[in-house]
Amino acid sequence: MTDHLKKPLAFKQPETFKPPEHRFFGRRKGPHLSARKQNLIEQLLPNISITLSEFDESLGADQKYRLNEDEVFDQSRRALWLEIGFGKGEHLAWQAKRFSDVGIIGCEPYLNGVAGLLTAVAEQQLDNVRIYGDDARHVIWSLPDQSIERVFLLHPDPWPKTRHARRRFVNPSNLDQIARIMIDGGELRIGTDHPTYREWTCAQMIWREDFTWLAETPDDWLNRPDDWPETRYEAKAIEGFATYFRYRRNSRSSKS
Ligand SMILES: C[S@@+](CC[C@H](N)C(=O)[O-])C[C@H]1O[C@@H](n2cnc3c(N)ncnc32)[C@H](O)[C@@H]1O
Repeated sequence: MTDHLKKPLAFKQPETFKPPEHRFFGRRKGPHLSARKQNLIEQLLPNISITLSEFDESLGADQKYRLNEDEVFDQSRRALWLEIGFGKGEHLAWQAKRFSDVGIIGCEPYLNGVAGLLTAVAEQQLDNVRIYGDDARHVIWSLPDQSIERVFLLHPDPWPKTRHARRRFVNPSNLDQIARIMIDGGELRIGTDHPTYREWTCAQMIWREDFTWLAETPDDWLNRPDDWPETRYEAKAIEGFATYFRYRRNSRSSKS
């Protein structure tokens, strides 16, 4: 095992979280937005943007920051899915189009990425997408236990340097929270093309009792499943191939 996998990591705890004050805007901005995208940010985003409720001191620890499904989608959905760091949103839009009975929450702090997803939402008339334009952990910490069926984390920033390892999204604290919000039998998908992140993900997941790796043969993690469209980052895979990790959220009543 390489050194960076042995070091204990300290992570910010959900209890210290205060919802950010801004509501609709991604934190990070890139190139100038076209007038059409700017218009979507101003007109469409407020309608499908998630706002987190204020911290309520009177609530117990397990009720703080709870995001109510009814407040997210105006009509009942068969299931809720979550995509963390959707980039320009191609994957999320693809899933939303094919699984129109599912509600999908996408989190992305990059404003140009949010504008990309908004374009797809408008063009494809998707009514089952909601957007949080900031750190996905805010949403994860706000969601009730056992509320999400599927979580996508596709090509998270690899932070390959050892001294930056604590910034990797796949870490014990985030995985504990993801396990908490997922329903039994739900699926966590992690895609990466980065060798360090591949090794890191395996090392983080292998010990967990709340998840089971669904791969039985190398083909299962080396070949992209049919319902896993290629993302923008995957298309630029650094070694020419990506890894498709699929994990089942184990039943809480058994420790398989
Ligand atoms: C390497 S890009 C991959 C984008 C997309 N998933 C893809 O495969 O094309 C990583 C994305 O994660 C976003 N990101 C990083 N940290 C995040 C966080 N804490 N919450 C939500 N998104 C995050 C970044 O803004 C960036 O768009």
